[in-house]
Amino acid sequence: MIHRRSRPATDRLSESWRRSQGMIAAMSDDPQEEKRENYRQALKELDAVLSGIDDPIAAMSTCATIIHQRLAAASWTGFYRVVAPRLLRVGPYQGPLGCLEIPFDRGVCGAAARQRAAQVVPDVDQFPGHIACDAGARSEIVIPIYDAADELVAVLDVDSHQPAAFDEIDREGLTRLAERLRASLGGDRAAFRP
Ligand code: SME
Repeated sequence: MIHRRSRPATDRLSESWRRSQGMIAAMSDDPQEEKRENYRQALKELDAVLSGIDDPIAAMSTCATIIHQRLAAASWTGFYRVVAPRLLRVGPYQGPLGCLEIPFDRGVCGAAARQRAAQVVPDVDQFPGHIACDAGARSEIVIPIYDAADELVAVLDVDSHQPAAFDEIDREGLTRLAERLRASLGGDRAAFRP
């Protein structure tokens, strides 16, 4: 007699239902629309998970994980915190080992912190002073992160092994996530300034 094991509960849920609940990544024939939808879902997830949370380490870790899971092109996703005047130090991240410290005058992260402006870099080899923590990285996007008092406290860095992986949709999507993050970055300043 053959005993058939019952399938796990999630297998029995219809794909369309799971998609509507954001349980699986959005899919569309239009890759740009798919990317937009993934950012919408990421924002919903971040908002739900960080509800009532006022702890920068919990907030940054959760944000890095959500982005890394949602963006298929991401090879490294994480934060560099402003720990001293003009000095960034690595914070919560996903992916291979990142550089520990980056001065404001170096790299794509330093440029984002110095200029307080997002950097979208389609080809890292063309960016003067790019820091290659991961030799496989081909493109990168970095977004400044501000706290509730409008102070620059960190940058969010996403790298990809694909050339030109990031565009205006990513800049907008990540900026929205950074705006949501603000409210959860208050409180414990030690995560930024040891
Ligand atoms: N590429 C970054 C350094 C950080 S890592 O890639 C994780 C830069 O040029 O600032």
